Amino acid sequence: MKILVTGGAGFIGGNFIRFTRNKYPNYKIVCVDLLTYAGNLETLADMLGMSNFKFEKADISNAKDIDRIFNAERPDIAVNFAAESHVDRSIEDPGLFLKTNILGTQTLMDACIKYNVKRFHQVSTDEVYGDLPIDKPELLFTENSPIHASSPYSASKASADLLCLAYQRTFALPATISRCSNNYGPFHFPEKLIPLVISRALNDQSIPVYGEGKNIRDWLYVEDHCSAIDKIIHEAKNGDVYNIGGGCEKQNIDVVKLILKILNKPESLITYVKDRPGHDLRYAIDYSKIKTELGWTPSVKFEEGLKKTVDWYLTNKDWWQNIISGEYKNYYQKMYSGRETAR
Ligand code: NAD
Ligand code: TYD
Repeated sequence: MKILVTGGAGFIGGNFIRFTRNKYPNYKIVCVDLLTYAGNLETLADMLGMSNFKFEKADISNAKDIDRIFNAERPDIAVNFAAESHVDRSIEDPGLFLKTNILGTQTLMDACIKYNVKRFHQVSTDEVYGDLPIDKPELLFTENSPIHASSPYSASKASADLLCLAYQRTFALPATISRCSNNYGPFHFPEKLIPLVISRALNDQSIPVYGEGKNIRDWLYVEDHCSAIDKIIHEAKNGDVYNIGGGCEKQNIDVVKLILKILNKPESLITYVKDRPGHDLRYAIDYSKIKTELGWTPSVKFEEGLKKTVDWYLTNKDWWQNIISGEYKNYYQKMYSGRETAR
């Protein structure tokens, strides 16, 4: 069996490659990644010398390169993690998100059809459903919730989902889609909430909380996301869409306070900043379909996963310190300077 994984030098794709390598030592894995600011070969350092593993630096929206790779590799399964993934960056530069997330997905699907790939899996997000009200906790996203994206990021992911379903129907592309809630765990780029809080708290720097910190996210430990995708690509039917969630809704401010508590850092580091435009209020997932049909449930509790994550950042300081000492400094300055709100 040969699996082609795009975006494997990023957070979830890198964890998925490691998960797959451990579970199926005989599988051949080909990683295709452009190594954007979010891609880091250090994430795959222990894979690079292994037999049965190959890395190809390429842009998923470059049809010539993708055709060359598929022609040479002839994968059985392709899993698409490659994406521009940060909502805040999508507000700064929507065009790049449309190119990578929509045209990139189309390019991969064309190659899958041409080279008879047996399964194309599109890694999508719960953000395609937009948001839910905070005061109606009984409401959850199901696979039948309307697509109602709020940000250029989520709109680009929603477009890719629609294109994927259209390819499945029109060209009989053997495709599946998963829509997952917020992940956390090792190798998470420190511009997203949890790794940003950990890395800044460890350096005794202020922690920017958007608005009043009351927005709610559902959190899932990254290995649980990997095990759900593993089940889908091996067991699900073509055309199936599955929600994946942690059953773990938390207000942002409570997540921040819990991390500070684990690290024994003061809450005085918290700084409230101007809110994100269009900020989704609440995400919450009904994952009963994957539970009933494929027997998947999340296995790592939030407090346990968060402690494991904090431990990982403590023992792998080189990985994130290399990142925050480079171009990231300019990013942080651009996105956060002058944004503090009086309270
Ligand atoms: P990430 O930003 O950490 O990694 C993305 C990877 O894709 C990077 O290695 C980057 O170099 C690569 N990439 C970007 N543009 C590319 C291109 N044009 N060609 C080839 N490679 C390219 O993202 P992540 O958090 O690991 O997310 C992976 C996928 O999971 C994304 O599709 C995202 O939409 C989805 N997702 C993420 C979350 C989350 O909480 N992080 C939740 C649900 C779904
Ligand atoms: P993020 O990790 O960017 O994921 P997403 O927007 O895709 O859910 O943000 C998670 C939540 O944390 C979101 O409600 C925005 C908020 N947030 C902050 O309050 N401060 C920050 O510095 C960041 C990056 C996010």
